[in-house]
Amino acid sequence: MGLLKYIASLTLVASVAIGNAQTHVFDVKTNKLGTEIPQTMYGIFFEDINYGADGGLYGELIKNRSFEFPQNLMGWMSFGDVKLQDDGPFERCPHYVRLSVCKEASKWTGLQNEGYFGIGYLKGADYRFSVWARVPNGGTAQFKAQLIDPSTMGERQQYLGETTITVNSKEWKKYECTIKCADLVEKGSFRILLDHSSSPVDLEHISLFPKDTYKGDDNGLRKDLAEALEQLHPGVFRFPGGCVVEGAELESRYQWKNSVGPVENRPLNENRWLHSFDNRLFPDYFQSYGLGFYEYFRLSEEIGAEPLPVLSVGLACQYQSKNHQPVDQLQPYIDDALDLIEFANGDPAQNKWAKVRADMGHPAPFNLKYIAIGNEQWGPEFPVRLKPFVEQIRAKYPNIQIIGSAGPDSEGEKYDYLWPEMRKLKVDLVDEHFYRNEAWFRQAGNRYDNYSRKGPKVFAGEYACHIDGKKWNQFQAALFEAAFMTNLERNADIVRMATYAPLFAHVEGWQWRPDAIWFNNTQKFNTCSYYVQQLYATNKGTHVLPLTMKGKPVAGNADQDGLFASAVYDKNQQMVIVKVVNTSDKEQSFLLQQQGKPLDLGKVEVTTLRADHPEAENSLDNPTRIVPVSAVKSYKMGDDLAIPANTFMVLKFHRK
Ligand code: AHR
Repeated sequence: MGLLKYIASLTLVASVAIGNAQTHVFDVKTNKLGTEIPQTMYGIFFEDINYGADGGLYGELIKNRSFEFPQNLMGWMSFGDVKLQDDGPFERCPHYVRLSVCKEASKWTGLQNEGYFGIGYLKGADYRFSVWARVPNGGTAQFKAQLIDPSTMGERQQYLGETTITVNSKEWKKYECTIKCADLVEKGSFRILLDHSSSPVDLEHISLFPKDTYKGDDNGLRKDLAEALEQLHPGVFRFPGGCVVEGAELESRYQWKNSVGPVENRPLNENRWLHSFDNRLFPDYFQSYGLGFYEYFRLSEEIGAEPLPVLSVGLACQYQSKNHQPVDQLQPYIDDALDLIEFANGDPAQNKWAKVRADMGHPAPFNLKYIAIGNEQWGPEFPVRLKPFVEQIRAKYPNIQIIGSAGPDSEGEKYDYLWPEMRKLKVDLVDEHFYRNEAWFRQAGNRYDNYSRKGPKVFAGEYACHIDGKKWNQFQAALFEAAFMTNLERNADIVRMATYAPLFAHVEGWQWRPDAIWFNNTQKFNTCSYYVQQLYATNKGTHVLPLTMKGKPVAGNADQDGLFASAVYDKNQQMVIVKVVNTSDKEQSFLLQQQGKPLDLGKVEVTTLRADHPEAENSLDNPTRIVPVSAVKSYKMGDDLAIPANTFMVLKFHRK
C-alpha cells in the first residue's frame, strides 16, 4: 500500500483565514505502535495539606473529637460544668470530658464544636452522630445533640436538627443515631446540651458524619470530593504525602501503623503544615488519622488506581530540620516498610499486620506493587539510608517496585547528585518534582526525549505550573501543564507515572496553591488543571504513536510557533488520539499526515479546553467558567485543522 494513499489532511474550518501562519504538518505513524502506555501513567497524589484530609476529604465534621489536641478543648466551646479527664477507654486517646449539671439549677452545661471553618450542613440531609459514653456514678444521663446555625437571624431557632440521647450504663458504650438537617448552612456548629435533671455523664470520641458518604462507608469520605477523584480516572494513587511523610521533626512524620485499627484508638499527629508559613498559620492543624492507610488502600481500590504509599526514610523535612534517624538505628523504619507490605498483601493467618487489615474488613489482599521510600530528600544522608531499605525489601519482596527520589528540584546540584545514586541503588523508579514557572514549562517540552533509557524509570510525582508572581489556578498555568504532558506521553517508555500536586485545598485553610480541586464546607470546584489531568487520563490510549514535525517532536521549540503535540493509539476503542496544545497568542493551523489504515474523517470527536483570558479561572461562584467542550466534527480529505490561540485540543479518530 503506497504511503501517500493514506495521507489524510484535515481542517477544522475549511475556509479559515489563518493570516500569514504556515500550516504545520504533523506526521503521525499510525502504523507503528510505540511503547505500551502503562495503566499507572496519569494518577493522583494526595497529601493532607490545605485541610485536604481532616476538614476535607475525610467526612468527619467534628474537630478534635477525642480531646487529644495539645490544648484539649481546642475547637470546642465549653460552658457550665465540663471537666477534662484522662483515663478513658482508648489507650492512645485517653482524654474525654465529664459533663455535670451546674449547681445553679437554671444554668446550662454543654459543649459546642466549631468544625473546620464551621460545619457545612445540607438541607434535608441525614447526619450520623456517635459518641462513647457512660454514667460514672450511675443513674441516668440525658443530653441533646444539636446541629446548630450559630449565626441565626430573625425568628429561626438555632438548631437545624436535634436528637436526645439517654445513657444509663456505668460501662463505656457507643451510642449512635441519625439527625436530619432542616436547612443549608455553610458555617454551622454542633452542640451537646445536658438536661437539667441529668446525672453526670462522660463523653469520648464525639463524632458527626454525613450519612451519604462516598460508597456509604461509616468512617467515610466526603462524597463530592471523592467522586471528583474517581472522575479523574487515576491509574495510580500516591499517598499520604509529600512533606507530611517526613514531618517537621521525625516525631511528627506520618506513621502508618498509628493510622489503622479502630478509629477511636488512632493517636493524634501534628500536621507538619501547621508550622510552615506564618502568613498562613493554622494553629489547629492536626491529623486525626481517621483517614488512614486502610482508607487510602480502600479508596485506591474503589477508584481503580494502583496504591503507591510513601514512607519516611528516617529524615525529617530537610528544609526545616536536621532531625535524622542515625543510620545504625533505622531498623524500626525499615520494619514499617516491610510490615506495610504485609498489611497490604499478607496472609491474615500468618501475619499480624495482615490480620489488622482483615479485621478491618478486607481479608483479600490489596495487591500492592509499589512503595516509595523518602519524599524530597537530598545529599548523602538520603542514599545511605535508602540502601538498607532497598536491600531488605528486595530480599523479602522481590516483586515490589521501589521508588527513590531525585530531590526537590527538577535540575541542579541536588538532582545531579541523586540520579547516579539512585542508579547505583537500582531503584525501579525515581520520583521527580517540579513546581516551576511558565518560562520553565515553555522550554521543558523535550525534557524526557533524551533521558537515558538505562536504569530506573521516572515517576513525575509532583508538578504544577506556578505562574510567576501569581500562584493561583489561572487557565494559563493549566495550558502549560497540558503542553508539558505531551512530553510525558511521548516518553511513556521512560516516564511511567505522573501526578499533579497538590490535589485539594480548602478556600479558607490553604497553605499552598495552585491545587487541583478547591472546596468550602458545602461546595467544590475543579480547576483548569484538574480538567487537563482528566483529559489526559481519559484519553490515555494504549500505545504511543510517533508524532513529529519536520522530523522533530512537537515540543514548543523556536520554530514550532508555541505548538506541542503527541499521539496515542487506543487498541480497545481502535482510535487514534492526538493531543495538540497551542501556547501562542495566535491561531495555528496544522495538518495531520498519517501513515497507516485510513481514519474515519466523518466522525471525529474534538474536545477543547480554552478560556476567554489567560488569567481566567474557575471559582466557587463560577465553577464551570472553563470546562472541556466536546463536539463530533466531520472533515474531508485535504482539510486543514485550526487550533485557536491558547488552547488545548484532543482529537479522536476512529479507524475506518
Ligand atoms: O505538594 C506540596 C509539597 O511540595 C509537598 O508536600 C512536598 O513534597 C513538596 O515540597
